[in-house]
Amino acid sequence: MGVQIAPSILSADFARLAQAAESVQAADWLHVDVMDNHFVPNLTLGLPVVESLLAATDLPIDCHLMIEDPDRWAPAYAEAGAGSVTFHVEAAHAPVRLARELRALGTRAGMALKPATPVEPYADLLDELDMLLVMTVEPGFGGQKFLDLCLPKVRRARELVSGRGLDLWLQVDGGVSAETIERCAEAGADVFVAGSAVFGADDPDRAVAHLRALAEEASKPTG
Ligand code: DX5
Ligand code: ZN
Repeated sequence: MGVQIAPSILSADFARLAQAAESVQAADWLHVDVMDNHFVPNLTLGLPVVESLLAATDLPIDCHLMIEDPDRWAPAYAEAGAGSVTFHVEAAHAPVRLARELRALGTRAGMALKPATPVEPYADLLDELDMLLVMTVEPGFGGQKFLDLCLPKVRRARELVSGRGLDLWLQVDGGVSAETIERCAEAGADVFVAGSAVFGADDPDRAVAHLRALAEEASKPTG
């Protein structure tokens, strides 16, 4: 599939979300951060706003659910038409059942790992997923500093995916910018979420193109 860029509207003006979507037509996905004030110490938006966004943009929507009990709440985002729905494994009661349910509803199933959550215990579960999200900040807020300590996990996740011959996308989210995206791509990520680096730029679409070019160059095999 190659490099994909998913701007996070968490860094956009919440009163102008449709315009924010329009300003990133060069993107592959629109990343929507759903937070419930329980799983993370922040409250953002939920299903009604996602439904309105789905009607307002042609970009596929990548829902990142930072919520408790995704087993109960995540399927509705798939039913609404999100192209990808990612739940946190730390919050899920039955991640395999949930991933299967999401896929059965016709969406891509994603599973997210917080910085301190290792990937190895989930090696046998990767086949049930379409995307693994390795968080590169503690989830909850945009504009945080990229955590380099997460990169070895990205590398190990890529090795697990390649070793098993899986067609699984590897997403990074948090502090991804022109300064850090190359390191992520070199480690094996292929889907890049960027909030402040895109919506904090004068021209969000140009920022998307720039990030894509950097990631594509860094993804090229060396030698
Ligand atoms: C953080 C969210 C991210 C956030 C990234 O919990 O999951 O998607 O918007 O923002 P930046 O790119 O500014 O770190
Ligand atoms: Zn996110």
